[in-house]
Amino acid sequence: MLCIITEKNRYGYCVIMIKENRQKADLIVGIQWGDEGKGKIVDLLAQNYDIVVRYQGGHNAGHTIVIDNKKYALHLIPSGILNPKAINIIGNGVVISPDALIEEMEQFENLENRLFISDSAHMILEHHILLDQAKEKLRGKNAIGTTGRGIGPAYSDKVGRNGFRIGKLRNLDQLENEIIDYLQQNRPILESLNIDIETSSIRKKLEFYKEKLEKYIINTTHYLWKAIEEGKKILLEGAQGTMLDIDHGTYPYVTSSSTISAGACIGTGLNPKDIGTITGIVKAYATRVGNGPFPTEEFGEDGEKLREQGFEFGTTTGRPRRCGWFDAVAVKYASRLNGCDNLALMKLDVLDGFEKIKVCTGYRLNGKEIDYLPNELEKVEPIYREFPGWDKSKGVRNFEELPENAKNYIRELEKLVETKISLISTSPDREDTIRI
Ligand code: GDP
Ligand code: IMO
Ligand code: MG
Repeated sequence: MLCIITEKNRYGYCVIMIKENRQKADLIVGIQWGDEGKGKIVDLLAQNYDIVVRYQGGHNAGHTIVIDNKKYALHLIPSGILNPKAINIIGNGVVISPDALIEEMEQFENLENRLFISDSAHMILEHHILLDQAKEKLRGKNAIGTTGRGIGPAYSDKVGRNGFRIGKLRNLDQLENEIIDYLQQNRPILESLNIDIETSSIRKKLEFYKEKLEKYIINTTHYLWKAIEEGKKILLEGAQGTMLDIDHGTYPYVTSSSTISAGACIGTGLNPKDIGTITGIVKAYATRVGNGPFPTEEFGEDGEKLREQGFEFGTTTGRPRRCGWFDAVAVKYASRLNGCDNLALMKLDVLDGFEKIKVCTGYRLNGKEIDYLPNELEKVEPIYREFPGWDKSKGVRNFEELPENAKNYIRELEKLVETKISLISTSPDREDTIRI
């Protein structure tokens, strides 16, 4: 659609710009180390969108949605699936374990025409999972703490041009041969790690994947371009979080994909001009699963209390999450990296009952105060500002009804991270959300 913008001057109105007013795809992105509550917000917003798209990651993700006390855990299927009207797309940037996807699909009836899978998305096969686990063991005390789902090896093969796109299920003879060739070429590496893949059962597995998945596999880039032209509303759902980004996170303690908003273009085929509003999802405190630097981690009673009150145990692996205070330096960095228009502040209720709440406003590195994120994040010491706590924010649905200290906390966070907070979540439930 063309949009003509006019301006009045002393001779009357004149045309100053003719621009294309195309539909944009809005984006949800994790701002910390994952598990911020992306699933809840995508599910909530999905009611206003026609299409929800996952653009990176794999079944390392665990997105929890709670509706009327019923809990759903999604790993690969986009979090729009619980809205019966939304079409859900697994984009080309996602790595797909066919076994995990088929199992996840079983909990939903009739996904035909409600779920589409990009034919360019790469598959995670058995050897990827075994390689991930074996390499983690070899790393010993320097292990990343991966989810053991084969994510790193699958992305490595994709970048190394040895991967297997899911669209290849359309031609099983060719795919089977390619997998067997790959296993033969990599035999020395696999054998050195005690990985032995039974090649005689590959064909049967591939036939099963084809039977279950082929009807969902399409060219999703083309589908999305058409949808944009038709004015359809699209929501892009990030997995993991900014601090786990392969380039901009706490390398090497990261995941293997581009988790930031820029990754959405690569992982869908949309271009940067197709992206509309970018909403960063951020917890009112901080958590991390796996190893790597986490400056505001709390090892004592406060950390334990955050874990208990926030029920901070991984959706995918069940591991206890490391807990700590809100790191405004990291969030400001992440907001800038992603180009966030606004933030959704999650799990405010978890801070109920704390006498004092700390926020990291700067770091001390080698005796000097800094206000940016250095590469040597493991060496920094956080500088804290303390806020008075509050008692009851759980379940509040109206900003004015929040305790005064909670309102003050939110307003100060906005200033520290230089980004507007436009959504506040006060319980896992879809309805317990404040829009401001
Ligand atoms: P995601 O990976 O970003 O989708 O987040 P997860 O689902 O892994 O982890 C977030 C957890 O917090 C889930 O168990 C949610 O049900 C829960 N949750 C989301 N929002 C809130 C909230 O405002 N308050 C509380 N107490 N829990 C929340
Ligand atoms: P969602 O989408 C939190 C972490 C792992 C590990 C590192 C690398 O639910 O927010 P990987 O298996 O990806 O190679 O592991 O990344 N990690 C996550 N942490 N939430 C996630 O996803 C994560 N996905 C991966 O714990 O530290
Ligand atoms: Mg999660």
